[in-house]
Amino acid sequence: MKNGRIAGTGSYVPETIWKNEDLEKMVETSDAWIRERTGIGARHIAGEETVAQMAVKAARRALENAGICSTELDLILVGTSSSESIFPNTACLVQDEIGAFRAACLDVSAACTGFLAVYELGQLYIRSGKAKNVLLIGADALSRLVDWNDRSTCVLFGDGAGAVLLGEGDSLQSIHLTAKGDPQVLCIPQPPSNSPFDILPPQQPFLQMNGKEVYKFAVSAFCSDVTEVCSQAGIQPQQLDWLIPHQANLRIIESALHKLKLPSQRCLTGIQRLGNTSAASIPIVLDEANTKGLLHPGDWIALSAFGAGLTTGACVLRW
Ligand code: ACO
Repeated sequence: MKNGRIAGTGSYVPETIWKNEDLEKMVETSDAWIRERTGIGARHIAGEETVAQMAVKAARRALENAGICSTELDLILVGTSSSESIFPNTACLVQDEIGAFRAACLDVSAACTGFLAVYELGQLYIRSGKAKNVLLIGADALSRLVDWNDRSTCVLFGDGAGAVLLGEGDSLQSIHLTAKGDPQVLCIPQPPSNSPFDILPPQQPFLQMNGKEVYKFAVSAFCSDVTEVCSQAGIQPQQLDWLIPHQANLRIIESALHKLKLPSQRCLTGIQRLGNTSAASIPIVLDEANTKGLLHPGDWIALSAFGAGLTTGACVLRW
């Protein structure tokens, strides 16, 4: 079964860094509260850059790392929920910039699970023989969608993009996505329209979250997803060389590691420097690990994500 091999990775975060101390000047919060509750110390914030521009930078790096030319791409899939335009989709904007004229282009909306969602779709294209080279991107700028007067959410998020070139090969051992539809617990309503026919009640177009509910769901889904994909791959979670989880909250990650009996040294994180970059969080940390030479051929790696929807996804691959 040929279900794709990660042939290259790339990532990009904006230059501007906002530390917890900077946020102390904007809302009633403290470095101590943010670190203790979330593990976050700083985050990168997009000013002039769009989600598509960040995605393009990550994509170029992934293509270079894989030694693939953009014209060889058959498909570009972008997991995002913060594109500046409803259409064209971000994948088309990336295609235009990098000159991938042969590629079909789709965005997938699955919030922070976006990267796992595009991974699953990309590997299906490769397995079916319909595509040889698929560019997978997770890119988000949730800093533009949080309410900067709401201290319980604005401290959590950062912006960035990560990309993976999925080529022919057979490194993916198992992957699965789940959903538990819930309209309330974590949502971003669209801004009100000016349609004279629109009688929907207007809502604030900012991220709204029941943090405690998301927290409980995340720990439980994280553990059951990783256990499930490990079992499908024929290994115990303790046999993983690396776990790269969605970077939402260090306490969620630590709690799940404890339940999975996995030492923290085998878990790769970037949340301390990056905050929650939503769909970008897993491919950014994957690229950092690849660039640092931490990943060795044959390593067992699990990726695990959860996000609004509620959605979850996890996979096991051999590097
Ligand atoms: N600084 C200081 N105090 C704060 C802040 C802040 N930034 N935010 C909230 N507080 C206060 C609250 O007002 C509350 O005060 P009170 O006790 O006087 O009422 C107190 O701190 C505790 O607030 P809680 O909301 O109960 O804090 P909690 O321990 O639940 O932590 C947090 C909040 C960090 C958001 C946590 O619930 C969490 O991480 N949840 C999961 C979030 C998550 O994973 N989101 C995924 C998003 S993924 C996607 O798809 C977008």
